[in-house]
Amino acid sequence: MKKKRVLFLFGTRPEAIKLAPVIKELEKYPNLFDIKICVTAQHRHMLDQVLDTFDIQPDFDFNIMQPNQTLFDINIRVLRDLEQLLARQKPDLVFVQGDTTTAFVAALAAYYKKIKIAHIEAGLRTEYKYAPFPEEMNRRLLGALADFHFAPTENAKQNLLHEGVLERNILVTGNTVIDALLMALRMDYQFSPSILKQIKSGQKIILVTMHRRENFGEPLKRICQTLRLIIKRNQNVEIIYPVHPNPNVSRPVRKLLDRTERIHLIKPLDYLPFITLMKQSYLILTDSGGIQEEAAALDKPVLILREKTERPEALIAGVARLVGSDAKKIIKETEKLLKSKMEYHRMVSAVNPFGDGKAAIRIRNFLLHCLSNNIF
Ligand code: UD1
Ligand code: UDP
Repeated sequence: MKKKRVLFLFGTRPEAIKLAPVIKELEKYPNLFDIKICVTAQHRHMLDQVLDTFDIQPDFDFNIMQPNQTLFDINIRVLRDLEQLLARQKPDLVFVQGDTTTAFVAALAAYYKKIKIAHIEAGLRTEYKYAPFPEEMNRRLLGALADFHFAPTENAKQNLLHEGVLERNILVTGNTVIDALLMALRMDYQFSPSILKQIKSGQKIILVTMHRRENFGEPLKRICQTLRLIIKRNQNVEIIYPVHPNPNVSRPVRKLLDRTERIHLIKPLDYLPFITLMKQSYLILTDSGGIQEEAAALDKPVLILREKTERPEALIAGVARLVGSDAKKIIKETEKLLKSKMEYHRMVSAVNPFGDGKAAIRIRNFLLHCLSNNIF
């Protein structure tokens, strides 16, 4: 059988985390797949942290990140660099993940070159064009561009079927983030984030992250003020907040929360210390997608700082609640979980709906099936 040229294209921290298990799985078949890795580096530092953790060495690096980059900047740079790379490399298949602008533009470029596209984490939808922005549109367009759709859940598969994707091109795999999490938990790792040493024993840790464009401005300000209120009302709580380096986030967050007692603003953590911190936390407040999925697997309750979610599975299972940026709701739900053991137990005992850690193996088997049937 002729070896197939497979190109992984990604650019940000969550894409790298969620693609790592698939890259590692396919690398076990050097006789069947010639694997190349291209990073746009839409993120720089946060991407490199993940590449180091999973020991992934890109073959190509576009290094496009600029401070405060716009969506236009990302589009233009990635498209321009990919035109040349795809013409030179002529892959048989490209892999993209999720709903970032790198993923969308990479799929568009592959389509222009008539190269087959595999989309991991396909089929997530809020059905609101601007929530999250621009991710909802990125993933709808990816759904139209992709040839193979690896859906994390049955619900995501149904979304794709409603949009007219053929069933034979969809595979429900579970989310590869659970594979990544299990890989990371297996790594020989003793280090405990130094921030934990500053927290007195017996205190409850609330872990906070926030980076979505819909939260920029007033919602972000409101959420920061709410965090101050939570701290004031609950002496046994410490907030640890790894602040996203986007200046639209870091500037206001530092202005509103720096030097606040029991609020610890820190830089983004490497993946392994971050998971350690998640495990030590009592509760997580976040607008992140990946963290919601990992929290469910680690039995940590999550309050989602968003108005809409593309992960209804978490709400249905009961592992997460949607609180948006509404101060009253955030405080009410946080204090319910701080004070009621029953409420807390109810949330953490829900079954993780996001996967069993075998997504990469399912994707590999699907590709082997395609190879033996000359599908690509
Ligand atoms: C991007 C994705 C979002 C994903 C998020 C994960 C798009 C449109 N958005 O959003 O879907 O949830 O990544 O975090 O693709 N920066 C640094 N260092 C880094 C990374 C970012 O300084 O390592 C700063 C830069 O100033 C950069 C800014 O953050 O310009 C914004 O980065 P960008 O990738 O455009 O947007 P995110 O909000 O990170
Ligand atoms: N993460 C990390 N360090 C941090 C914060 C998050 O390694 O300081 C990891 C987290 O475990 C998850 C991923 O980054 O796997 C989520 O990335 P992000 O929230 O930036 O993006 P999203 O998932 O919302 O697209």
